[in-house]
Amino acid sequence: MKFFKQFLKSPKETAAVVSSSKEMSKLIADMADLNSKRCVVELGPGTGAFTEEILSQVDPETLFFCLEINREFVSETKRRCPDATVYHASATDIGKYLAKNNRQRCDCIISGLPWALLDSSLQEELLDSIYNSLDEGGVFLTIAHITGLLFPPGRRFQKLLDMKFSEMSRSNIIWGNVLPGFIYRCTK
Ligand SMILES: C[S@@+](CC[C@H](N)C(=O)[O-])C[C@H]1O[C@@H](n2cnc3c(N)ncnc32)[C@H](O)[C@@H]1O
Repeated sequence: MKFFKQFLKSPKETAAVVSSSKEMSKLIADMADLNSKRCVVELGPGTGAFTEEILSQVDPETLFFCLEINREFVSETKRRCPDATVYHASATDIGKYLAKNNRQRCDCIISGLPWALLDSSLQEELLDSIYNSLDEGGVFLTIAHITGLLFPPGRRFQKLLDMKFSEMSRSNIIWGNVLPGFIYRCTK
């Protein structure tokens, strides 16, 4: 219900009417190989579905924080995951929040951002800040909905990933997610 309310307020930014399923959340965390990571950033946690799974897999010594642009979702993720650090900030500010935590780069970025609804300049700006914030060999994982591939922004996003990263792969489709989708896993 909380998700649906935020969707009605800002449909383009929220992009979904319910949060990702447990199966999708577990898949993205599993594919990140989190126990080998030392600095993990999550973008767009919403109500904390991925955050909960990340916290259950990440080493307690690892630096982990989230950036969420919607204040209601910041509160909701903090309520669901009291151990998570959630900043009310845009994903474009990753560098600023890494610096605030005395880091220049991280080795894993996990995103729930609505890529297929973003215009090309914002897609490129966000992908640049993600790429520039990753160590060499660092990984970027993001959910994508299959409906996105029907439209130019979703197809353009896939092309951008392919051009920018040295490796890019896609998981199987999770049909049980409310909008069926899959995970892109990219290596710098
Ligand atoms: C489709 S929801 C995904 C939420 C959650 N990860 C999940 O899968 O259930 C997209 C989320 O991205 C957030 N978001 C959109 N643009 C953002 C931006 N530029 N920076 C940070 N968060 C953003 C929205 O507020 C929303 O929480």
